[in-house]
Amino acid sequence: MNNLSLKACDVVIFGGGGDLAMRKLLPALYHLEMDGLLAPTTRIIGASRRAMSAQDYQNKVRDALDEFVPSSKDNTDIWPTFKERLHYVSVDAQKPEDFSRFNDCHVGGEEKDVVFYLATSPDLFGSICSSLAQVGLNESRMRVVLEKPLGRDLISSRAINTEVKQNFTESQVFRIDHYLGKETVQNLLAIRFGNTLFEPLWDSAHIDNVQITVSETVGVEDRWGYYDKAGALRDMVQNHLIQLLCLVAMEPPGRMDAGSVRDEKIKVLKALRPITGANAYTKTVRGQYAKGVINGKEVQGYFDEEGSNPDSRTETFVALKADIDNWRWAGVPFYLRTGKRLGERYSEIVIQYKAVPHSIFSDESNRQLQRNQLTIRLQPEEKISLTVMNKVPGASEGMNLQPVDLNLSLTEAFQNKRSPEAYERLLLDVMRNDATLFMRYDEVEAAWKWVDGIMDAWNQTSERPKEYASGSWGPTDSMALPIKDGRNWHDY
Ligand code: BG6
Repeated sequence: MNNLSLKACDVVIFGGGGDLAMRKLLPALYHLEMDGLLAPTTRIIGASRRAMSAQDYQNKVRDALDEFVPSSKDNTDIWPTFKERLHYVSVDAQKPEDFSRFNDCHVGGEEKDVVFYLATSPDLFGSICSSLAQVGLNESRMRVVLEKPLGRDLISSRAINTEVKQNFTESQVFRIDHYLGKETVQNLLAIRFGNTLFEPLWDSAHIDNVQITVSETVGVEDRWGYYDKAGALRDMVQNHLIQLLCLVAMEPPGRMDAGSVRDEKIKVLKALRPITGANAYTKTVRGQYAKGVINGKEVQGYFDEEGSNPDSRTETFVALKADIDNWRWAGVPFYLRTGKRLGERYSEIVIQYKAVPHSIFSDESNRQLQRNQLTIRLQPEEKISLTVMNKVPGASEGMNLQPVDLNLSLTEAFQNKRSPEAYERLLLDVMRNDATLFMRYDEVEAAWKWVDGIMDAWNQTSERPKEYASGSWGPTDSMALPIKDGRNWHDY
């Protein structure tokens, strides 16, 4: 680890007492503390409207760690140092006059870098940035981190961006997509560009199709209010799935730095063939979960969730066939699917290679002949496997072939290494001022343009999303999406 990682920072978390802060951000910072990655003078400053003393805040964080990092109870030597870093400033994000309290707390003193993490509603991004600027807290050593959703369409996303840009330059704005912080997602870059083996075969001459699945067992929980205005397309595809698609499809960047990686991703986004009224019917499937059984437990349908509205047409499942119109990917469909209340929680990217051009084996062996497949499993376990054909051992087997997986289990390969949560890596990167794993505005805009086309097409039809039983793999139409092309989804 280089010294930059130990640069002293003030990390100010707006929404500092909220769900994201307690479940993800503070546990991630705590883990960075455990790994010795916080500089001695780094402070963590919770900010929210509620009046609270620093001590109250420390107690709240302690409770959150007990719940979300149970092992922290045993690490008694870490807590005193971490606790000392925790401060609290009561600020109403809509009252500019409150922001001078950050100066009272010497935020950014001693020329420290400052990270303002905006874990709030995006409606507040513009006003927070402008109030920070009014008290001089937008110098070039100060950065803002924006959590999704970055708008609900291109127009609203542009409005947010314009407001933020009035006071912070693009290089100071870190748009977070936590999927980019997942270990296996970064490993995808290592696999592609750290080996000579894969890249020469990474194109339409060798790859038949690519599948990206992010399957969740949870429902919308207590987020109906947010979720019903978003839906699976905006909540998951516009950001997480499209970002994964970009990393699979982009050309090799010249260097692993923010400019080079993001320049390549934007080319992919611009090459995505629009899905509009005319082709949305054949290229997309929407679903809404009904009641069902998951892990042996009965669960309720979307319309039984608290706060639900029976007229809602919001999709909780979406499957898409995306085409990338460039030389490398011409004719290679990218099938994407994601949904809530599906049979299993898992996320994976499957690269399905083409069949051998000519088989030299007998009819019986030919029947066994399967295509090579590279599977990159993001969660729950992190592993990469490559399916290759092998001869079944035994003199009497003749040339009987069978597919065998070459497995790389990251947990086994790196036994003494803890796999960090996505937010750990991303928070460390913001502190180091490295934006490689964050989204530049042109990427967000291009992703919205593509998603808006689909949304418009859906809004033009009177058709409702198809119902699917909780615990299933989504509506049956989703199964048919690759079947229409003579392909299948990779089974879990
Ligand atoms: C969030 C979505 O961005 O990602 C949630 O808003 C979703 O709806 C979550 O559940 C999934 O993240 P992960 O890391 O649990 O796969």
